[in-house]
Amino acid sequence: MSIVIKTPEDIEKMRVAGRLASEVLDYITPHVQPGVTTEELDRLCHEYMVKEQGSIPAPLNYQPPGYTPYPKAICTSVNHVVCHGIPGPKPLKRGDSVNLDITIIKDGYHGDNSRMFLVGGEAAATIQSRRLAQITYECMWLGIAKVRPGARLGDIGHVIQRHAENAGYSVVREFCGHGIGKKFHEEPQVVHYGRPGTGVELREGMIFTIEPMINAGKAAISELPDGWTIITKDRSLSAQWEHTVLVTADGYEVLTVSAGSPAPYLPAQA
Ligand code: MF3
Ligand code: CO
Ligand code: CO
Repeated sequence: MSIVIKTPEDIEKMRVAGRLASEVLDYITPHVQPGVTTEELDRLCHEYMVKEQGSIPAPLNYQPPGYTPYPKAICTSVNHVVCHGIPGPKPLKRGDSVNLDITIIKDGYHGDNSRMFLVGGEAAATIQSRRLAQITYECMWLGIAKVRPGARLGDIGHVIQRHAENAGYSVVREFCGHGIGKKFHEEPQVVHYGRPGTGVELREGMIFTIEPMINAGKAAISELPDGWTIITKDRSLSAQWEHTVLVTADGYEVLTVSAGSPAPYLPAQA
């Protein structure tokens, strides 16, 4: 096993897959409202992928070693759910925060991204849930801004961990970003904590995700009996954002972009 360096042809197809994954999030955004069930959001996304995009939902029946096949097209992680929440019949309510994680396959290549949604809008959210979603977004972008040839994965993990912990939050350790391409999860593992100057050195043509999971309380997690859903052990709120990123000759290119992508967070010092 080793890290796949993508060819120009691979990269062009990854741009398409990334844009489509982002466009699913654009499409679903107006549907994320109080009263909608997460299985309705799943149904809408699934239909959009297959019928409008001609893409394939990568999660459906995805089965890593030791797991049962994932039963739905998307992941919907509400409030204290960290990741891999399975869409179900429970309606979203005003003030919930939810992560929608979308991975599509187009022409054999994967695009993987997620965004946070505050159900009922900013005004309905608690100060804490708004701040957690915002800090987590900043963590993702601070990590992205480190990407360039010669940088190391520890540089990315370090800035994410520092920003989260300075805000009083904690970084989930058990799940991480990942290489991505013809496979959903490839090497390397992109952990969201670490020390500068350590870990794998980045090279032009690598493609991986950065997808920090940040908890308002402690870092510890539990798995639900469904074999997929991960929650915070202390039931504190959790947030996550995800982009798929290419290492370019002089920096990075975010592949999961579309008309509705939220503006990058790029402070001058980043
Ligand atoms: N999209 C998730 C990630 O970012 C993986 C979900 S696996 C699934 O890596 F099977 F739950 F979809
Ligand atoms: Co991912
Ligand atoms: Co994802």
